[in-house]
Amino acid sequence: MYLYAIKILHNTDVLLGIQWGDEGKGKMVDVLTPKYDIVARFQGGPNAGHTLEFDGQKYVLRSIPSGIFQGDKLNLIGNGVVLDPILFRNEAEELATSGHNLKERLLISKKAHLIMPTHRLLDQANEAAKGKAKIGTTGKGIGPTYTDKVSRNGLRVGDIFVGFPEKYAQAKARHIDMIHSLNEAAVRKGGQAVSMDGLEALEKQWMESIEYLRTFRFIDSEHFANKCLAEGKSILCEGAQGSLLDVDFGSYPFVTSSNTVCAGACTGLGLPPSRIGEVYGIFKAYCTRVGAGPFPTELFDETGAKIRSIGHEYGAVTGRERRCGWIDLVALRYTIMLNGVTQLIMMKSDVLDSFPVIKACTAYRIDDQITRDFPFSIEGNVEPVYEELPGWQQDLTHCTQENELPEAFMNYVHFLEHELETPIKIISVGPDREATIWR
Ligand code: GDP
Ligand code: IMO
Ligand code: MG
Repeated sequence: MYLYAIKILHNTDVLLGIQWGDEGKGKMVDVLTPKYDIVARFQGGPNAGHTLEFDGQKYVLRSIPSGIFQGDKLNLIGNGVVLDPILFRNEAEELATSGHNLKERLLISKKAHLIMPTHRLLDQANEAAKGKAKIGTTGKGIGPTYTDKVSRNGLRVGDIFVGFPEKYAQAKARHIDMIHSLNEAAVRKGGQAVSMDGLEALEKQWMESIEYLRTFRFIDSEHFANKCLAEGKSILCEGAQGSLLDVDFGSYPFVTSSNTVCAGACTGLGLPPSRIGEVYGIFKAYCTRVGAGPFPTELFDETGAKIRSIGHEYGAVTGRERRCGWIDLVALRYTIMLNGVTQLIMMKSDVLDSFPVIKACTAYRIDDQITRDFPFSIEGNVEPVYEELPGWQQDLTHCTQENELPEAFMNYVHFLEHELETPIKIISVGPDREATIWR
């Protein structure tokens, strides 16, 4: 008779955004990093903009994981990420200038895909050809790079060592043909053709950045990560974007081109699902979205403008105004379900300090039917049903522990926990690392 030992395999936790991105993932990954040995990005690319603040300094990370500032922890860019060598170089050099040398602490998967200069142009050309239906992408070439990956035409980091010039030339030629045909479609719709005038200069910069990239450490990250876990080390996986931008479950087609949900951590790092333990779902005390697409609780009035102004809701990457609205619990229940969120982290609570009334969308009214379930589409006549709660009208930014938080604020927290059936374990009351309350 065989006796099987029951092994507790979880030493990987995942932190991900459960709204439309910009929830504050960068800050919280930095705060949680001391508990882990390795921090790993598993999807997305420089469409992400993760902000961290500590010691009076502010940093915005795009491709480099947010664990890079905490001692000598290892940081990993996984196979699921798409990497732009130019933007990566800018980011890494800026960090080196501010005294954060990455070379010893950053590892890059050979299987991560490269964003080429023509991918950026294709991104613009795709948008122009869509006319009014454009997504409002970040213009970083994310969609075209993932499209090449899935259509088996992509260029991977590991390819820079074998037959690179030929592989690059082939991909570029294919892209140029595609840009020409997209340009024709754009012009037919009365739009603008994408110019290829700057391509040569961009390519030169890109090739130089490839040489810079070569000075980093490349690994077979799936082997590395699993070996670390077998040795008892722990990994924090850092999501980019948010679950409502997931290519399968988000507000399609107004989404990004990767799986932003928890399962993406497995495919984007080569980790077995049995290794995932805690899933931190991070959300703002309200809701924002950048780019086009439906947003049922969006506010077009002065309340929305006030949230934007107090919350500094402008894109970390593009500087675009973020659309603002009340918290959407229908959407949050959905994303908590999809990710198997075990604990919630509530961000930017302080932004609502001066509001006399806080609204929370608990259900949608669609064609006179009330639903608490997230529907196939949230476009069209989806009307939010709100519950109103009294605001706390007190400054939260000085609070350092739970017993200092005002009663009306804690009523909001308890209301959310009840509606979402998940505990809120951390409350953030300011952008700084220190402005964090553990419950
Ligand atoms: P990410 O993409 O999820 O990492 O989030 P972003 O960095 O794009 O956007 C979050 C913004 O909110 C950044 O400017 C942060 O510095 C800021 N922030 C994070 N947490 C808090 C908070 O609790 N209160 C306030 N007022 N700002 C915060
Ligand atoms: P972080 O990690 C917010 C949005 C874009 C656009 C759509 C598709 O900082 O939370 P893409 O360039 O990915 O093809 O654009 O997704 N988007 C984000 N919105 N935060 C992000 O990242 C985003 N990354 C992409 O605005 O609507
Ligand atoms: Mg962001």
